[in-house]
Order: sequence, then C-alpha cells, then structure tokens
Amino acid sequence: MSATMLQVAEDLHAFPGAKHLPPTYKDLISNLPALPEAEASDGSIPIIDLEALHGPRRPEIVKQLGQACQLQGFFAVKNHGIPRPTVDSIFDTTREFFHQPKEERMKFYTPDPNSDIRLMNAYKDEVANVYVARESLKFHCHPVEKYVNKWPTNPPSFRKSAAEYLTNVRRVEITLFGAISESLGLETDYIEKKLGGHYVSLNYYGACEQSNLELTYGVRAHTDPTIITILLQDEVPGLQALSEGKWMDVNPIPDTVVVHVGDLLQAISNHRFKSLLHQAMVNCEKERMSIASYCYPSSDAMIGPPEKLIDSDHPAVYKDFTFKEFSEQMWKVIAFDDARLNSFKCSAA
Ligand code: OGA
Ligand code: NI
Repeated sequence: MSATMLQVAEDLHAFPGAKHLPPTYKDLISNLPALPEAEASDGSIPIIDLEALHGPRRPEIVKQLGQACQLQGFFAVKNHGIPRPTVDSIFDTTREFFHQPKEERMKFYTPDPNSDIRLMNAYKDEVANVYVARESLKFHCHPVEKYVNKWPTNPPSFRKSAAEYLTNVRRVEITLFGAISESLGLETDYIEKKLGGHYVSLNYYGACEQSNLELTYGVRAHTDPTIITILLQDEVPGLQALSEGKWMDVNPIPDTVVVHVGDLLQAISNHRFKSLLHQAMVNCEKERMSIASYCYPSSDAMIGPPEKLIDSDHPAVYKDFTFKEFSEQMWKVIAFDDARLNSFKCSAA
C-alpha cells in the first residue's frame, strides 16, 4: 500500500518538497500562522464514558460525543477497557526501546516512506531556530499476523506488548466509530465499513536537551490526517490543543485516552467536526512518552460527506474522494493542517 498519512505528514515536516529533495532541516515552521503562543486556556476536557455506551445511556453518551467532536475537537475516554497492565507494559516496552543505544534504534531508520516500520529522529530547523525533539517508531499493525515479524525483537517484550495494546485500542476505536457515526445520524457501521489497516506511532520525548536554539518543541502544531487519533499519554504533561483560539494544556488524566478529530472526519462529517490543531511541548526534567494510533480507511473508501449530511442548509463542503486520492494529495500539498483537504472542496477549481 502507499505511504500512510502520518508518515507522509512527518516526511513533509522534515523534508519540504517531499520525495524530490534531499533531506533538509528546513521545514514548515515558517508557514505556520501566528498563533496566540503564550495565552493559555483554562478550558476543561470533556470526558466520555465508553462503558456507558453499551447500556441504556447510549443515546445520551452519543450526544455528548457528538458535542465534544463539534465544539472541542477532542475528548478523553474513561472506562475504555484497556487493562492497566497492558498500558503499563506498552510504556515499559517503549521506554526500553528508546533507552537502547542509538545503533539498535537506527536499525529501523529508513528514508523509505513505504516501509512497514520506520524510526523518525529528532531534528533541528536551523532556519526557524527550532529543535523538534520527538523520536518516534511508526509501524503498521493490523492484522497483527501480517506485520508482527517486522517489529523489533528488542526489548524482548516488544511484540507481545505491542500486539496486546494494539488489539485493545482498535476495539476502543471501533466502538467510538459506531457512536460517532450515530452522532452524525448515520448507520452505526458507516465509518467501520470504510476501514482498512491500523497504524501506530510510539512517541518518545527526551528530557529537554541543552540547545542553543531558541525553542524546543516536542512536536509542532499540526492536525492529524486521520479519521480520529487515539493518544495514550504517560503521566508527564506536554500535549496542548488549540481551543477557542488559545492553547490549552491537555494534561494526562489517569486511566483515560485522548481522542482527536482528524482531517478525514472533518470531511466525512461535512465540516460539522473540525480537525484539531495540537502540539506537544517537552519537559526539562522528565522524559515523556505517548502512543498515537489510528485505523485508516481502505484505499477505495469514499471520504466525502454522505448524502444524509447534505441539504439546502448544509451544502456539501467536500466532493467525493477516495482515501487513495487523499494519500496521494498529501505528497503534493505541503500542509501541516486541514489545507490537505482544500483540493477536495466543492468550491475548488
Ligand atoms: C501525534 C501527536 C502528541 C503527543 O503523534 O500525532 O500529536 O502528545 N502526538 O505526543
Ligand atoms: Ni498529532
């Protein structure tokens, strides 16, 4: 299959001009709009009870979910059913993986965006005077049997821990897709029917390094080119989301995962839900880890808004387009946000 969306997004961050230019440290920061950097929002994060979706309160929870997607673009999920030992184990494994000597980690480095597994390094943007501190290991993971042989064998716990976490998180994601579809007035399996594989990024942010650069980011402001992203954070704060024009700290809440609306859900929902602009800071004392995962559509899945969401008050914002077309477009449009969708707008030439 073609390069996945998150891979493409990362490549574009690191290598403007995509495939045709050699790697460079320049990237998109100069194109980022001026955002209200220092102003913090004290907004709170909506918390959705996943377990309650399976009982008589489902309609109420579906409504909450729809409101969170529409008003905030992100929410936390509690009672998600991912066992605590599974969560502890994926973090232990991630920490052990990134604590290994660089040579061991670099075995997974490849410039090939089509690779089933890839290490992405921290990098400096000398032009913008910014250091982007994240190192991440990204890989395909569904079905597990198809990909597991590509995953690291060091630390020895890797394959078992990753398979266990990913099987659990996929179940959570599919439950959410059912509720999100219903919140849009669609069939419960509307989104699920579009699914293809699953992709994960184990993110590692070392404690801030001494740097002569002006600013160190964990990861710079971006939207995810996904339907939704499920982010499992450890207990170290760092994630920020743009909420009503201000950066809001999305601090870890024990035993929850964070969910972001991505660009594809913005299109599927006919722009009722907006993809979330977010970034991660680094911490000067503590390392931080997060696990971002998402199910992606099959290549021929239609992503444009369904008929049901289009009427005279809500004309179609996007044309019909396939996931394959979107993925190809990602290579052509250098964007860190939903501008990736611009060429699929009905008003686009
Ligand atoms: C991502 C992401 C934020 C974080 O992986 O897309 O935005 O807190 N991660 O690690
Ligand atoms: Ni993200």
